[in-house]
Amino acid sequence: MTANEMLNSYAPMIEAGLKEALPSKRCLQKNVVEAMEYALLGGGKRIRPALVLEFYRQCGGNIYDALPFACAVEMIHTYSLIHDDLPCMDNDDMRRGRPSCHIAFSEEIALLAGDALLSLAFETAAKTCHDHMEPEQILKAIEALGRASGAKGMVGGQVIDLQYEDKVVTLDILQKMHEGKTAAMIRVCGEIGCLLAGGKPEQLRAALGYCGCIGLTFQIVDDILDATSTSEILGKPAGSDAVNGKNTYYTLLGPEKCQSAIRQLTEQARQEASAFLDSETLCLFAEYLAERTA
Ligand code: IPE
Ligand code: IPE
Ligand code: MG
Ligand code: MG
Ligand code: MG
Repeated sequence: MTANEMLNSYAPMIEAGLKEALPSKRCLQKNVVEAMEYALLGGGKRIRPALVLEFYRQCGGNIYDALPFACAVEMIHTYSLIHDDLPCMDNDDMRRGRPSCHIAFSEEIALLAGDALLSLAFETAAKTCHDHMEPEQILKAIEALGRASGAKGMVGGQVIDLQYEDKVVTLDILQKMHEGKTAAMIRVCGEIGCLLAGGKPEQLRAALGYCGCIGLTFQIVDDILDATSTSEILGKPAGSDAVNGKNTYYTLLGPEKCQSAIRQLTEQARQEASAFLDSETLCLFAEYLAERTA
């Protein structure tokens, strides 16, 4: 399967799963539900939920069983984007080609919509059907999701990102920041897929390795695109990193060294993919992420 075929084959069930999981709007607080829906159903490449489903499939599972976790990961990712755009963070007014959540609603509602999406993620994951999995596997996956999104994962990376605005960083700090803010949530997708499907220990290790590499690549490419592409193509404000004095791979290493880091990480991901039966699909997906333009 090419990367596009893979993403397209999973997209309809992911969209349906996300829609289905949203709370009803028949309540006094319906504006927060509208903000959740606006952010969650307003586009996005859906690479993280697709990875959960793909690793579940690669370990022999029937993808529908992993859908609640795929949705949970996308909910946490969406919450991280809502908060990332707030004036106290990156102060970006466009996301997924539309006004950011706090522009379309308000800062208070955007903050709370993000909080509610985080809670909804764990509620959704916990609703995973026990028929084809041991409860222990589900619990391990929930634990992994909490760890990846928390202070040692995505939140931690976001803190480092803010702490070092307008400051000089080493490559080591930058790598820790990127591994936290972006790679952690991508890495956990492979981990969850393998844990839920009861994959072999060597498959779990390879999934962590593969997703770690493509996760870091993902943020390096995001840094390059922020500096070199346009807001129209990206659907979010290009040049935001420079305005905010962010440290990025692009500012620290320059274009050539970024490309060689991407090549090296993608080659490493290709090697890890060999632990899986359909390694070809995983290799093509890693290459797609390395070469993406939006
Ligand atoms: C954007 O993630 C935030 C980063 C981690 C760079 P995506 O590029 O996956 O955003 P969507 O979900 O497709 O909008
Ligand atoms: C944000 O990185 C990563 C998370 C949202 C956790 P960026 O700040 O570079 O993401 P974009 O460019 O706004 O999507
Ligand atoms: Mg940011
Ligand atoms: Mg940002
Ligand atoms: Mg960015």
